[in-house]
Amino acid sequence: MILVDQEQRIFTLQTSNTTYQMKADTFNVLLHAYYGPRVEADMTYLIRRADRSHTPNPDEAGTNRSYSLDTMPQEYSTCGVGDYRIPSIEMEQADGSHAMDLRYTGYEVRKGKYTLEGLPTFFGQEAETLVISLEDPASHVAVELYYGVFEEEDLITRAAKIVNRSGEPVKLLKAVSACLDFPYAAPMDWITFNGRHMMERCPSRAALNPGVQSVASTRGLSSHQNNPSVVICRPDAAEDHGLCYGAVLLYSGNFEIAAERAQVEDCRLVLGIHPHHFCWNLAPGESFQTPEAAFVCSPNGFGQMSCQFHRAIRKHLLRDPYENRRRPVLVNNWEATMWDFNADKLVEIAEAAAPLGVEMLVMDDGWFGDRDDDYRALGDWTVDQRKLPGGLEALVPRIQALGMKFGIWIEPEMINEDSDLYRQHPDWALAIPGRAMTRGRSQLVLDFSRRDVRDYIYNTLKAVISSADIAYIKWDANRTLATVWSAQLPASRQGELYHRYVLGVYEMLDWFRRDFPEILIEGCCGGGGRFDAGMLYYTPQIWLSDNTDAVDRLRIQYGSSFFYPVCTMGAHVSAVPNGGTRRTTPLETRGVVAMSGTFGYEMDLSETTAEEQEIMRRQTAFFKEHYDLIQRGDYYRLTDPFADGPFTAWEQVSQDRREVLASVVTGTTRANPAFQMLYLRGLDPDLRYRDQEGNVYTGAALMAGGYPLSLDLFLGDYQSRQIYLKAE
Ligand code: DGJ
Repeated sequence: MILVDQEQRIFTLQTSNTTYQMKADTFNVLLHAYYGPRVEADMTYLIRRADRSHTPNPDEAGTNRSYSLDTMPQEYSTCGVGDYRIPSIEMEQADGSHAMDLRYTGYEVRKGKYTLEGLPTFFGQEAETLVISLEDPASHVAVELYYGVFEEEDLITRAAKIVNRSGEPVKLLKAVSACLDFPYAAPMDWITFNGRHMMERCPSRAALNPGVQSVASTRGLSSHQNNPSVVICRPDAAEDHGLCYGAVLLYSGNFEIAAERAQVEDCRLVLGIHPHHFCWNLAPGESFQTPEAAFVCSPNGFGQMSCQFHRAIRKHLLRDPYENRRRPVLVNNWEATMWDFNADKLVEIAEAAAPLGVEMLVMDDGWFGDRDDDYRALGDWTVDQRKLPGGLEALVPRIQALGMKFGIWIEPEMINEDSDLYRQHPDWALAIPGRAMTRGRSQLVLDFSRRDVRDYIYNTLKAVISSADIAYIKWDANRTLATVWSAQLPASRQGELYHRYVLGVYEMLDWFRRDFPEILIEGCCGGGGRFDAGMLYYTPQIWLSDNTDAVDRLRIQYGSSFFYPVCTMGAHVSAVPNGGTRRTTPLETRGVVAMSGTFGYEMDLSETTAEEQEIMRRQTAFFKEHYDLIQRGDYYRLTDPFADGPFTAWEQVSQDRREVLASVVTGTTRANPAFQMLYLRGLDPDLRYRDQEGNVYTGAALMAGGYPLSLDLFLGDYQSRQIYLKAE
């Protein structure tokens, strides 16, 4: 609900459990009053003032030295006019100055959620939109602040649009999607999600210290190293208690999330496109649209925050038809064959997979040009007749005859120098003339800011995909951007290139959705290098990591689950010893872990034993039987896999709380193990739950006393158990 007190100029966004409030003050400065647990009150008493000295006062304040932009909570912080904390916006005005003041000029409330052209957004007719208009009185450059309110999910979205009404050209150097000020001096922690290739999104918690701290990507992609998501919380906040705020940026390129603890111990958080090499030219009348940021405030810890994000993403970010449709259990040939396969080998894998309940074969990298390794052929999107005689027209019916669907891997944004495409169009790759080029995985990045490049790549891929009945596409991207320069942009516009690249990727993804609405697209970026809420709008699932080791995956899935629901996490069972870690884990355990993702296999199933096949048959049957619970249940992290306890556990609870699936994976074994209890969460205390063995416990008992884990589970390394409980 959006409430506007026109007289007091107070704007209140109410969700089921939270309240967000701001006020346009007497000098038309838009101040942030409150964001937290739901209240029905005027919270503007929280905006306090004092003369802090060495904090400038705007002209209107006259001799009132307590009025300073530098110490008051701002809704969209300005630059060069007296607020020295992190600016939300910075521009070079026509006169060369970098000053930008913003004053309130009006508002509008709309039914339904706003959309942003060419950018991903949460959507929903049941949501409401508030637009607040601000303007710089000197230059007349305007900023429109967008707020989306999703009551049920406690989700508040934000974005900003910068409109050049100055009559002269200006240069936008920074424009964040959202700024959130916490005016009080309460100690705060923040949790960021960091890592590297094969070890993405590991949570890192630290106190917000004086000064600025930030996580960012300048790699052109949201990156393996830092995820565009953050939690800000009270130091006592944990999974099941304490005040916390989750924030995600719906953007897949360069980003920065920065937090500043300022002089009076107030905190500011900003999220947006990274200002590195960002310079957007705005001619008179032109505007720039920032990506969207989204927030959930949970008064009851991280668990509730995650549940609300998961619900919001499933219902308001994943688009038709895959927000609800069951996704196929697949087998991917990558870890089985890499580039060394042909049609017969793929059919052999599919023949082994079909009786196990696997529903789709995905043909990974290596089917095009002369792609026998990763030094060549990216860009030459024609089927390699040596490997696949007769093309997809011949192969796909053979897979379908087994009752399976067929999926294909592509990497549209990339090009190898050893390719026909590069020989014809060397200027299509990002490179700076006169400067040595950079390679990543021996490949270059195509200039996706160019319409002609996008058109060509799309049309060649469209021809391949139209040549057969394709059910799924895996869209990969295997290097980051460097030496970024476009042959099609003048020097003055090169600062627009990183963002134009992202817009180009989004646009082509939308072309696929338009022309092939039934095809399921899985995002991928050398595993999880572009696992972000922006991509999820286009690709409802994303390959979580190139690391398929079940024990490492526990950690990667744990970190990713703070924001992203199970149904978005690409997860497969692979062979042992694992290629990345050389670790051997039981097949059952690999299944339990992959099942808390989209679930599939990534190994040569034709080389498995009858005993292994029997385990896999049970896995796929169990997964399909409990699909709704696993994919759409409320997800609870029961232990922290980074804490090195005796086991890692998590849980899915159906919306009506009548069904529960708890998954447990143990660590390395010790003789004579202690009794371990599993403290379940989110149950109905009054219901009686029956487990697979027929034992019955009340919800209250399972939450307070715990579920008794059997001792034999702790004998042997990396054992696992799935405990399914149903209310009587
Ligand atoms: C990186 C991906 O993450 C892998 O799954 C695989 O598709 C390879 N690229 C193929 O080159």
